[in-house]
Amino acid sequence: MAEQVATNITWHEGEITAEKRQENMGQRGATLWLTGLSGSGKSTVAVALEQMLIAKGKHAYRLDGDNVRHGLNKNLGFSAEDRTENIRRIGEVTKLFADSGMISITSFISPYKADRELARSAHEEAGIPYFEVYVECPLEEAERRDPKGLYKKARAGEIKGFTGIDDPYEEPEAPEMVIRTDQQTIEESATTLLNLLESKGII
Ligand code: ADX
Repeated sequence: MAEQVATNITWHEGEITAEKRQENMGQRGATLWLTGLSGSGKSTVAVALEQMLIAKGKHAYRLDGDNVRHGLNKNLGFSAEDRTENIRRIGEVTKLFADSGMISITSFISPYKADRELARSAHEEAGIPYFEVYVECPLEEAERRDPKGLYKKARAGEIKGFTGIDDPYEEPEAPEMVIRTDQQTIEESATTLLNLLESKGII
């Protein structure tokens, strides 16, 4: 866990309650945390879900691994320490988005269980709904898709420490939802998540 470095800081409460925000937004804020191998379809499903939510007049926003690594996390690479910091920051950022009333959809490999558990507990402590979604796809299929040509490079030894090849992916043990992108269409996967949000009273 990251250490508290700053001292002499005090939490400042606002006047807007979670209920007031919910009433204002017409939804509850929540985080949908998509985890899975590179090429499993996390970003594609997130894009489809975001579109469905917006079409329903809901408020949604995506936080995407490749995108966030161009900005907030541009100083991080793919060592175990950097991946942990990547996920720690995103866990905090998505918590803030969800707290603001957004449905925040994250798509990060987030390969380490302990890092995902930290993101979950940060939400639980704040009373913010959090749903872990395992975007499951066999490595062979992700590698066959290889949308960015990275598996090929990893197999050739041009990328070291690539998830699934020479860096681990720890499968979720108790995700709120599993979607199999090798067996379902993108639309079916996104609809499954939309139904999850409905059944949990988020939208
Ligand atoms: S995470 O492991 O820290 O959660 P994140 O989701 O942010 O990863 O970024 C993964 C993306 O970075 C992949 O989809 C891929 O495009 C790219 N990438 C580059 N190098 C690696 C690597 N060594 N392992 C995994 N993904 C990599």
